[in-house]
Amino acid sequence: MTEIDTLKAALLAEVAGAEDEAAIEQVRVSALGKKGSVSELLKMLGTMTPEERQTRGAAINALKTEITDAITARKTLLKDAAIDARLKAETVDVSLPVRSSPAERGRIHPISQIIDEITAVFADMGFSIAEGPDVETDYYNFTALNFPEGHPAREMHDTFFFQADEKGERKVLRTHTSPVQVRTMEAQDPPIRIVIPGKTYRQDSDATHSPMFHQVEGLVIDRKSNVGNMRWVLEEFCKTFFEVPSVTMRFRPSFFPFTEPSFEVDIQCDRSGPIVKFGEGTDWMEILGCGMVHPNVLRSGGLDPDEYQGFAWGMGLDRIAMLKYGMPDLRDFFNADVRWMNHYGFRPLDMPTLFGGLSQ
Ligand code: DAH
Repeated sequence: MTEIDTLKAALLAEVAGAEDEAAIEQVRVSALGKKGSVSELLKMLGTMTPEERQTRGAAINALKTEITDAITARKTLLKDAAIDARLKAETVDVSLPVRSSPAERGRIHPISQIIDEITAVFADMGFSIAEGPDVETDYYNFTALNFPEGHPAREMHDTFFFQADEKGERKVLRTHTSPVQVRTMEAQDPPIRIVIPGKTYRQDSDATHSPMFHQVEGLVIDRKSNVGNMRWVLEEFCKTFFEVPSVTMRFRPSFFPFTEPSFEVDIQCDRSGPIVKFGEGTDWMEILGCGMVHPNVLRSGGLDPDEYQGFAWGMGLDRIAMLKYGMPDLRDFFNADVRWMNHYGFRPLDMPTLFGGLSQ
């Protein structure tokens, strides 16, 4: 056997023995690379006599072709085998249940749900949404709403005060959403029909009070709105919101500095069971405060009380959410406990609508 035959046999054995793409590449480099065994032979062609070149030269070239072909064939084979193995390993079991998407697993907090429900009801009646800052001036939180300086009603609110600034002005965490009434009157001309959902703050904490809580405020200003209109709006709201065909409401005379006359509103309900039922029963539950906007508040908003009038109401959301959805402790609302959210939260794609049902 010639030297070429020996090399050929050795190289073909190496090609056949290469088990993966990296191994065959190594064989290629060792044979056909710059310093490979076949390349070294080819370099010798230059030193040969013409006769030698005719015999050995042809044999060396034939060796190169044969080895190149063998390597290419083996490479293709190994590549196909690698793809086959991958396909086998990655087969999809189409009978497996589909994993739920994050949009499916996430939950809407009951407070967000309640706000969506309430705004859906009022949007249907032609109201829009207004918002204002949580850190409020003493002026908007109290003075503009007809709370006189030093009036005890300011203390009633258990206000969180900030430290006074250089000018001696003390900001507050708003104690109610009512300041947005005056901010809105300043910003837009009547007729005004707005609801104002938002966070409010008072120094209070137990099973039914949290220092941060939520209210929704309503405001209607035009030339003729009266107590009768207010009553209709609030009754329509309660019926739709509590998802009952009819409600009985009781308007008790009350006092708020920013309304005159003022009322506290109770709704008839049945509290004998574990969950309060609305639209039936012989109990009453207070749900909101309301009244005709006080002339001084209209003046704060830059409106002439001889020309404009209107009504307003304010309602705590947290307690209503507890009642509507049977959640016993308000503090759980703000504990960020995923288990609680999974139990009481709402599915994110089920947006409350009047035609689809508010809470399903
Ligand atoms: N701001 C009042 C509170 O937090 C609630 C309220 C009562 C708002 C009567 C009103 C209203 O707009 O007319 O207790």
